[in-house]
Amino acid sequence: MSTEIATEIVDVSDLEAGGLRALELHGRKLLLCRVADEIYAIEDRCPHAEAPLSRGQLFGHELVCPFHGGRLDVRDGSPVEAPIRRAAGTFAVRRVAQGIEIEIPLAERKAEIP
Ligand code: FES
Repeated sequence: MSTEIATEIVDVSDLEAGGLRALELHGRKLLLCRVADEIYAIEDRCPHAEAPLSRGQLFGHELVCPFHGGRLDVRDGSPVEAPIRRAAGTFAVRRVAQGIEIEIPLAERKAEIP
């Protein structure tokens, strides 16, 4: 089994510190979170009951879910406060000249049999 990875470049020049931006890439709903000069990308879906995290609020590295007030750390998606108990998915991000490059895992595929 292998997972194909797509990469997309996104201009984040208008994303201010403490800001959130939802976007959809390759059928995945992502949320960009800017903390100081760092950008993190997580799934725009709460691991508790699937609320759109893009409607939440960012406090430092902690994102508060709009539905039940659970908190998670946007650096690795890990739960910080109940009722969130599972980590949210995250996406690898790196800075490039045009903004950021995001890695998006596509559907898993079976390895080809020679
Ligand atoms: S849906 Fe996010 S804490 Fe419940």
